[in-house]
Amino acid sequence: MLVLGIETSCDETGVALYDTGTGLLGHTLFSQVTMHAEYGGVVPELASRDHVRRLLPLTRQLLERCGRRLVDIDAIAYTQGPGLAGALLVGAAVAASLGYALKVPVVGLHHLEGHLLSPLLTSPAPRFPFIALLVSGGHTQLMRVDAVGEYQLLGETVDDAAGEAFDKTAKLLGLPYPGGPALSQMARSGNPKRFKLPRPMAASGDLNFSFSGLKTAVLTLVRGADPDSRTKADIAASFQQAIVEVLVAKSISAVAREGLDQLVVAGGVGANRPLREAMSKKAEREGFEVFYPAQDLCTDNGAMIAFAGALRFAAGAPGAMGFTVRARWDLEDLKTVSTA
Ligand code: KG4
Ligand code: ZN
Repeated sequence: MLVLGIETSCDETGVALYDTGTGLLGHTLFSQVTMHAEYGGVVPELASRDHVRRLLPLTRQLLERCGRRLVDIDAIAYTQGPGLAGALLVGAAVAASLGYALKVPVVGLHHLEGHLLSPLLTSPAPRFPFIALLVSGGHTQLMRVDAVGEYQLLGETVDDAAGEAFDKTAKLLGLPYPGGPALSQMARSGNPKRFKLPRPMAASGDLNFSFSGLKTAVLTLVRGADPDSRTKADIAASFQQAIVEVLVAKSISAVAREGLDQLVVAGGVGANRPLREAMSKKAEREGFEVFYPAQDLCTDNGAMIAFAGALRFAAGAPGAMGFTVRARWDLEDLKTVSTA
């Protein structure tokens, strides 16, 4: 079965072809980052319009590159939510129209389900059940994953997401949007011990997170001052170290509390190298395995949607006519909400 995956939840237009027999045939992405950078963040209306411009040409290019034609597609999966409503509608409308024209089933997927199943695309892949740390621009959650569609929320951020904290702090340091990768780059030459930043909720005894205080602590450091580049690098390194420590500590607690021995790290912040290094080191010491998606599949992409769609179809998900999008949508609701 050949599944076309479409991702348009935010500022990346992603399409992919996944063959249930041979695996991922290819994926392609257009990032709108430079367009939004001018405004310091994503402008929803511009995002929607750009998805309209890119989606069909990207799909055509991908089919050509993979040596396939539209009529070879057996099923279509698209991101139904959560995300920007207008941006989601573009992917949903294209998926539904193509499905209607090709007479193939169409399924709407939860964006975070795509992220958390994406490490299954790597080899060796994790086996169910496992713990997933989802760290993206909009979410920071620890989930227990027992099977496709069986997700239990163990803890989440009570305020900013980890990626959001990276982006906001980067902005305070004068870095362009999206700040995560830029801050991480700046932190490379910094001293992570120079500034004693808080480890929010590290000792809260639960699996929740809080990152807005960390950003405020950085604001206090830079407000009224004009930090030189060395100080900025030290702030970036100290900030990154604090966030990494909290993410690692909470993930270890989740693995221990659930009595499992595998952890999956997914979402854009999962691309962060110091996070990967610290997590892998701790996991080795604690005796559990950690799995990461390939570096290019950490941030938003169509491959994770095509793949999750293939798993959903294999599990008997019915295709649906018409479409809706869900700008806000809890992953745990998947059990009670149909994929229509
Ligand atoms: O999963 P994603 O592409 O989009 C959402 O679903 O939100 O995640 C984007 C987030 C942004 O906040 C970005 O700054 C962050 O992931 N990010 C990183 C890195 N690469 C992306 N944060 C820290 N270090 C990175 N290397
Ligand atoms: Zn995402």
